[in-house]
Amino acid sequence: MSFPLTTEQEMIRLMARDFARKELEPFAAQWDKSEHFPLEAVRKMGQLGLLGMLVPFEYGGTAAGAVSYSLALQEIAYACASTAVTMSVTTLSQDPILKFGTETQKQSYLTPLARGEYLGAFAITEPGAGSDPGGMSMRAEAKGGDYLVNGTKVFITNGGYADVVILVARTAPEKANRGLSAFIVEKGMPGFSIGHKEDKMGLRASNTVELVFEDCRIPAENILGREGLGFKIAMQALDSGRIGIASQSVGIARACLDESVSYAKTRRQFGRAISSFQAIQWMLADTATQIEAARLLTLSAASLKDQGQPYTKEASMAKLFASEMCNQAAYKALQVHGGYGYMKEFKIERLYRDARVTAIYEGTSEIQRLVIAREIAGG
Ligand code: CAA
Repeated sequence: MSFPLTTEQEMIRLMARDFARKELEPFAAQWDKSEHFPLEAVRKMGQLGLLGMLVPFEYGGTAAGAVSYSLALQEIAYACASTAVTMSVTTLSQDPILKFGTETQKQSYLTPLARGEYLGAFAITEPGAGSDPGGMSMRAEAKGGDYLVNGTKVFITNGGYADVVILVARTAPEKANRGLSAFIVEKGMPGFSIGHKEDKMGLRASNTVELVFEDCRIPAENILGREGLGFKIAMQALDSGRIGIASQSVGIARACLDESVSYAKTRRQFGRAISSFQAIQWMLADTATQIEAARLLTLSAASLKDQGQPYTKEASMAKLFASEMCNQAAYKALQVHGGYGYMKEFKIERLYRDARVTAIYEGTSEIQRLVIAREIAGG
């Protein structure tokens, strides 16, 4: 089965690929090694319209749609998985403002985010609330017309560079999930600071930090929607975000496959190229087949989103399948490389590390199965 692309979608894919191969891929290994966040390259992506692909023109976006976004993100991830998560989370942070923001909030925050002038972050995770964000303890207490926020968010992608953070905190302790509210927080607000930077296994050129709130006053006009909507706002954003992580997984897996093919063709053992051995051929064939399946699931979920259809289940299926597939692809690609694959001078070593988190963030594989099961069989 093929997934026919429009001329515009194909052009966007080629533009993203051209940018990624020239501006990201040659530097990705060095950025990983030095944990360098490639701000300049990210700014260029903003100028190319790659950071506002799901935002309408009137708010500075390119309104390219979710299929084009997925295609572009796959190309970025192929070249640099770290930059792909930077792109994905900036896009994730736009969703709540687009769907729940007032006109003023859209003009003030969505437009610069979509143009890539601002970077965005999405903060729901806490030390004691990962898979279960409904269990978060960060308080946002209504006080004198503002909200007084205290607590810490962890593992926040882009946090150290974000100009705008979508923050979910508890406004009503007695109401569980319905007691959460979402806010727009600006960099530099008194009482808001960047904490510890994480020393990660992979995606080392992306930025992951703690965000600390100590008596931080958030103006009441920065609430998204109304009090109590925070959980739903976050879940809807994650539905869309999961298409992004599925796309990132497909991109990383394609890079794993290409690395294996070129290594297998040049590496000789027992007097011939290892690509001539069936054991290697089967690994390549399985990976290529699984990549195609993941790509189709991902584009299918993206297409539902573009058509305005429900896509919660399909986004979780795509994220589950593509991220697990990506990890298998990285495992097999390293196996094809043998001992060399374990060495840092080979690209597959980085891809293997980068792949791991795709099955964890924006909902673990176990959470995706829970979402899918609830969608098909109810609570
Ligand atoms: N869209 C809209 N509403 C939704 C929804 C969705 N996709 N999913 C749930 N809701 C609504 C429900 O309808 C329900 O509404 P009512 O209160 O009106 O009945 C409410 O939200 C609560 O739903 P549940 O009872 O299903 O909630 P739950 O506590 O059982 O949790 C969950 C469900 C799927 C496990 C959810 O907690 C979840 O997705 N957890 C994973 C969290 C996650 O993905 N974290 C990622 C962090 S961000 C990140 O990783 C980004 C990054 O930096 C890379």
